[in-house]
Amino acid sequence: MVDVLLGLQWGDEGKGKIVDYFAGKYDIIARFQGGPNAGHTLYVNNQKVVLHTIPSGVFHSNTLNLIGNGVVLDPVTFRKECEKITELGIDLKKNLFIAEKTHIIVPTHRALDKASELAKGQEKIGSTLKGIGPAYMDKTGRNGLRVGDVLHPDFEQAYAKLKTKHLQLLSNYDFSEDISEWEKEFFEAVEFLRQMNIVSGEYWLNEHLKAGKKVLAEGAQGSMLDVDFGTYPFVTSSNTISAGVCTGLGIAPKWISEVIGVTKAYCTRVGSGPFPTELENTTGEALRQAGHEFGATTGRPRRCGWIDLVALDYTCMLSGVTQLVMTKSDVLDAFDTVEACTAYEINGKQTKEMPYQLNGLSIKPVVESFPGWSTPTAASNTYNTLPPEMKKFLSFVESYLGIPVKYVSNGPGRDQILEK
Ligand code: GDP
Ligand code: IMO
Ligand code: MG
Repeated sequence: MVDVLLGLQWGDEGKGKIVDYFAGKYDIIARFQGGPNAGHTLYVNNQKVVLHTIPSGVFHSNTLNLIGNGVVLDPVTFRKECEKITELGIDLKKNLFIAEKTHIIVPTHRALDKASELAKGQEKIGSTLKGIGPAYMDKTGRNGLRVGDVLHPDFEQAYAKLKTKHLQLLSNYDFSEDISEWEKEFFEAVEFLRQMNIVSGEYWLNEHLKAGKKVLAEGAQGSMLDVDFGTYPFVTSSNTISAGVCTGLGIAPKWISEVIGVTKAYCTRVGSGPFPTELENTTGEALRQAGHEFGATTGRPRRCGWIDLVALDYTCMLSGVTQLVMTKSDVLDAFDTVEACTAYEINGKQTKEMPYQLNGLSIKPVVESFPGWSTPTAASNTYNTLPPEMKKFLSFVESYLGIPVKYVSNGPGRDQILEK
């Protein structure tokens, strides 16, 4: 059986913390897409850890972790991450497995990402510059290198061939950085990667499933960044919705059971692109400060706004979400009024559907206002003790989406989560 946990907004919904909370109930946590563009924050023994490529179940002694074939892995970031986790006393040789069909990010992918963003000027995507787009382009363009290739004696030749292609592409851009240091680091990291458990991800996982093991598929990014259904072209390069689980792990849809959607009690976005409920005012700034909304991967300030139920309804539909987890509800404690967008007004007409393309449209969010609760909730330890005003807000979200909010996360800590 496979349950899926994914972000329903533009990423950073708190997926890492929630996966860490649920991990004890599962035998395997598997990442199925994305790469080091992700930054999943957890607190282990009150120490903050940010995971980029490694699944968020890694701190549970009885849980195995799989980096699935749908992920793109940068050996350099991966090695750094492994070293940090090892320092915390975790033996990754025992609990981490990497699918051999996982694609590799090479230094020139990062260079191409940077060059392409620079060339776009004002129209830049706001990429994390981790080489994600170029690596997925090589995957679908059938030029990529995969983790399994590092075990072959001709890996260096295959690398050189790909690099030559990339240098040709880079010559079309104004890019003159010396990447020799990046390459040195890369080859050292490839050597490190060779020592890890590289497996046939699809056989490995299917055998565990047949043996009755429980798997949680951990999404990265958010559904509104999905390459097909997100705010294209301001998206990432993978399928972040539940459909990505089957191709990103090599499992059949019949295995999928619950789809757990994670949403913040408000909304954020980092990078460029449309954001209908964005508050470019003091309220937005207050949300940023109260929620410490600065990127876990890049440190960039996140754009903030009220919860967008039109977008959430769309992303719940795309993934077949069966239960919701609402995070960061405590951030709203200090607000006199809390709002939720229930429709978009475009050219004087209201709609509850996501338009074909958001950029270029003038969208006025139609909002429902709720009285704030002006009570600190981070110390609450049962759902029932939450203020009635907050419960009213939660019920409204549930009835709009027609999906139960099963958990409310009321702080970043491991134990700050309330089951309804
Ligand atoms: P992810 O990418 O979805 O895993 O989310 P990030 O780790 O990028 O961002 C979520 C941020 O919110 C992190 O700093 C978390 O420690 C923090 N966080 C998670 N849940 C809560 C919560 O319920 N309340 C508060 N105040 N912070 C939270
Ligand atoms: P987690 O897993 C928030 C955004 C970038 C940019 C766009 C494309 O932590 O939720 P890319 O590097 O993929 O080419 O960037 O997607 N983005 C994220 N935003 N959280 C993430 O991951 C993100 N990963 C990518 O800011 O707008
Ligand atoms: Mg994040």
